[in-house]
Amino acid sequence: MAQKIIIDNDPGHDDAINLLLALASGELELLGITCVHGNVGLDRTTLNTLKILELAGKNVSVYAGADRPLLRDPINAESVHGKSGLEGPVLPNPTLALKSQRAAEFIVQSVLEYPNEVILVPTGPLTNIALALRLEPKIAPLIPQMVIMGGSTDFGNFSPAAEFNILADPHAASIVFSSGVPIVMFGLNVTHQVLATPARVDKFRQLGSKVAEAVVSLLEFFKLSYEKRYQFAGPALHDPCTVAYLLRPELFKLREMNVEIELGAGPSFGQTVCDVWGVTGKVKNARVAIEADADGFFELLLERVGRY
Ligand code: RIB
Ligand code: CA
Repeated sequence: MAQKIIIDNDPGHDDAINLLLALASGELELLGITCVHGNVGLDRTTLNTLKILELAGKNVSVYAGADRPLLRDPINAESVHGKSGLEGPVLPNPTLALKSQRAAEFIVQSVLEYPNEVILVPTGPLTNIALALRLEPKIAPLIPQMVIMGGSTDFGNFSPAAEFNILADPHAASIVFSSGVPIVMFGLNVTHQVLATPARVDKFRQLGSKVAEAVVSLLEFFKLSYEKRYQFAGPALHDPCTVAYLLRPELFKLREMNVEIELGAGPSFGQTVCDVWGVTGKVKNARVAIEADADGFFELLLERVGRY
């Protein structure tokens, strides 16, 4: 039986590719997609989600969630993803409409309807997930796993210490990481191992489909900020590590550890403080990815994009 999941996202180039990977994978039953503020405003993350569904020719329910963090001032990543959030490809206008139910309500309703069956896959700020956990605390023990893109065991990308998704709503992240729900965390320490190099992008170009062309265009734009800031050979495919893990967990090496979110004002605000060596003796509340098989990842992504 297909694994039930809900993706909570803020497309965003890598969120979009993560959606395309999930939508092409029959092993997964995507109950719905919830949208959150993040890379760009909620109005655009919802529109972008609908555009990707139109491109993929798939009909999945989409729900709007939080348009700002729980407490801190909003931040965005327009510097990376452009004003629209999906600069690069010309995407079709959506024919699907947003559902009226709010994201947190949909998450609560789904987990109660399918107890112990629904894996949550957040790839943006964790505001919607935190709101769902607060709206109905009964759901925490009924969520088998959360596979999260966020944080890092080493350094940040939007501050020296903090990764964007966590920094965009550290209070929500603290609620999620202290919820007791089993977490698999994909942080920058591992997603920066998964780079869409020119040789890898060429293989998508050779596919020749509309979807593959859009993926190439997304990657061509997404790489600009990675070449400029990191001198990387290509953009890091952060978010697709989550769905790739669900499809082929053997692509990643994980380590159990305690992860806490730094909420104190100052240079470490929003850091995922990862006790890699277990020095605190605190509960190991997350399995954190530390290694990725990048070739295997792109082999999987290419095969699935090739299905469109
Ligand atoms: O730091 C990378 C994360 O922030 C990714 O999820 C990207 O889409 C942005 O949301
Ligand atoms: Ca994202």
